[in-house]
Amino acid sequence: MVIKLLATCLLWSGSWRNLPRRVKDQMPQLSAESLLNIGSQLFEAAGCSPGDAGAVAAHLVDSSLYGHHSHGVIRLYEYVDQIKQGIFDPRGKPQVVDEKPCTAVIDGDGILGQVAAEFSTKIAIEKARQHGTGTVTLRNTSHIGRVGAYPLLVAQEQMIGIVFCNAGRLGRQIAPHGGLDPKMSTNPIAFAAPRRNQDPILVDMATSVTAEGKLRVALNRGEQVPLGWLIDQHGNPTTDPNDYYENGAILPLGGVAGYKGQCLSFIVELLGGALSGQGVSNGEKIMKSNGVLITVYRIEHFTSLDAYYDEVEILARHVQSSRIDPKIGEILLPGEWEFRNARQQRKDGVMIDETTWSRICKAGTGLGIDTQVWVEMALNA
Ligand SMILES: NC(=O)c1ccc[n+]([C@@H]2O[C@H](COP(=O)([O-])OP(=O)(O)OC[C@H]3O[C@@H](n4cnc5c(N)ncnc54)[C@H](O)[C@@H]3O)[C@@H](O)[C@H]2O)c1
Repeated sequence: MVIKLLATCLLWSGSWRNLPRRVKDQMPQLSAESLLNIGSQLFEAAGCSPGDAGAVAAHLVDSSLYGHHSHGVIRLYEYVDQIKQGIFDPRGKPQVVDEKPCTAVIDGDGILGQVAAEFSTKIAIEKARQHGTGTVTLRNTSHIGRVGAYPLLVAQEQMIGIVFCNAGRLGRQIAPHGGLDPKMSTNPIAFAAPRRNQDPILVDMATSVTAEGKLRVALNRGEQVPLGWLIDQHGNPTTDPNDYYENGAILPLGGVAGYKGQCLSFIVELLGGALSGQGVSNGEKIMKSNGVLITVYRIEHFTSLDAYYDEVEILARHVQSSRIDPKIGEILLPGEWEFRNARQQRKDGVMIDETTWSRICKAGTGLGIDTQVWVEMALNA
């Protein structure tokens, strides 16, 4: 009780960072349910409908559970800030503005990206159910978050999904191979395909060596990042995430073959940005919207489900039959890392660093929420 009071007082006096170690050690591990509750309260207080608030909060909590902390609860305060600044409309209604049997063009009406992207994915799924394949584009929405969430919805329907996602006109994060200035975005590709009675195959990756959000996580935790991720403003390799925000750049995916990451990034720009109408990288300072293209394939229009599932298992067994490199220790299939993290963190709770936690609490108090309950929840976790 004394500790709780001390923690609460320090929070209100802005001295959160000065909490005694034993209090800090208890603080940051929260259950998925608690975080979902906190996120839903925040988005509802920011003006979202209860349904949308719950959906966006669930997406962010799932991202943390999956181990993609860059796209998890660290985004709670960022999204709230953007709504408060009027960048996005918490009450927007995504609409189909053009439609053919296998395609649709969707305008997100400025709503939060998770709501618009889920709406769009469901339309692509229905088109594929009827016609074998469905492709939709999405523009005019906010950040859609962890892109892998959308093909995973597809795999649940025993179909295959692929998503290309650019950052509209931004283009100020990644140096092209051979260049020193940030001219491209992190431009992720996500893909999911079902397996027989097992977690699906899930590929969810930026076409840069890392998502930019991982630098924010490192900053909040006070950590360095691996060599090979970044160059500073003079083009020197660096492990300090601060260098990125001082005119440095993230490198394209691929290390010595970084040109391949750059090639993938062009695919994403033209499919996600040019086809959606959101536009391609042009160096704007603020990302107004992700530009998105989602394609769904209904397996039975190409082969039988059984034959497909047999092939997935042949591939998985073949790849995993390799000798193990002791420096790495195991062979994972795409997605195993996420599903393993999710199982572990559902059990243990999600670790939240004190900077992220204090920003989440600050966003809550800024919206008039009594966050003392959250502090107690964290202390009791
Ligand atoms: N909305 C946006 O604008 C945007 C932009 C960039 C990235 N993102 C998101 O950021 C997140 C992080 O992206 P990232 O590129 O840093 O991801 P990452 O490098 O952590 O993981 C990429 C992929 O590698 C797989 N993987 C990880 N370890 C593995 C191993 N040992 N063996 C085999 N496969 C392994 C994972 O399953 C995952 O599919 C993703 O969810 C992505 O969608 C979003």
